[in-house]
Amino acid sequence: MVQTMPIVENAIKEVCIALVPETMVIADLGCSSGPNTLLFISNVINIIAGQCSKSIGECDPVELQIFLNDLPGNDFNQLFSSLEKLNQGTIVEQVPEELHARNGTLLNKDNIYITKTTPSFVVKCFQEQFHKDFSLFLKLRHEELVYGGKMVLTFVGRKDEDVYNGDMNQLYGLLARSLQSLVAKGLVDKERLEAFYLPLYGPSISEVKEMVLESHMFKLDYIKLVELSWDPYDDTEGDDVHDSVRSGINVSKFVRALLEPLIASHFGETIPDLLFADYACLMSKHLEQEMSKSAFIIMSLKKL
Ligand SMILES: C[S@@+](CC[C@H](N)C(=O)[O-])C[C@H]1O[C@@H](n2cnc3c(N)ncnc32)[C@H](O)[C@@H]1O
Repeated sequence: MVQTMPIVENAIKEVCIALVPETMVIADLGCSSGPNTLLFISNVINIIAGQCSKSIGECDPVELQIFLNDLPGNDFNQLFSSLEKLNQGTIVEQVPEELHARNGTLLNKDNIYITKTTPSFVVKCFQEQFHKDFSLFLKLRHEELVYGGKMVLTFVGRKDEDVYNGDMNQLYGLLARSLQSLVAKGLVDKERLEAFYLPLYGPSISEVKEMVLESHMFKLDYIKLVELSWDPYDDTEGDDVHDSVRSGINVSKFVRALLEPLIASHFGETIPDLLFADYACLMSKHLEQEMSKSAFIIMSLKKL
């Protein structure tokens, strides 16, 4: 959020200056329901209010419509009740998106993402799926935005061009090892693990640039890769892990927050507790050896 907000601010200012809109529609895709959701909305309102006050006399107050979008399981009730805290008389439309399940065909034996031993045809499957999903995402956002409208995106990416050498390979390689140890203990069926893969892909900057160019739908105003510690509570700049046990638990909780619904629906409701306890231990051991960081791509696009 800290890294992304200045880019959102620029995008809003440029739209205000270029289009002088009477109504602005803002969509927070993947809004979640925690404090960040409110922080984002209140930052956006302040930026737009700041722009309006600069051009007093030239424009009427801008009408704002904010769309909050997330998966059906997102706690929109909690979110709506907490919106009262903003005290801005905001009207909210609830339009959660469906995540369409894919056929769980046997793609990645004993692994759940790309690892060193993943065959190239499996890598190609992940890449083609990303290509398909991201192209559709761009096409749909292009239909929704006005000409000159802007979109700021933040998503997991990869620093290295080598698809086998990304931090996600390690992060989810360790999770696969925890799942394998549950198989060894007879707690998870081997076939269930063999039929499971993560619907994720961390692209490099050049892969993303190429897709935006190919689409002919957006101009790429800005793109940058930032790296943040796997431990979401670690804001330090350095490359040291101060407390690997604590960080192991934090990373495990972070990954659990992302993946629990997926894991529970595929392996059963009792598995997340066992899995993430094992994962926290494995993670602590990993962090004793090396500090790891996640790569995120931040980019700003303008509709052509
Ligand atoms: C990393 S969280 C970001 C939450 C929040 N925007 C923030 O900055 O703290 C990603 C969010 O995207 C949501 N999400 C994942 N896939 C989605 C989809 N296909 N459609 C809508 N939301 C999705 C998740 O449920 C989650 O709330």
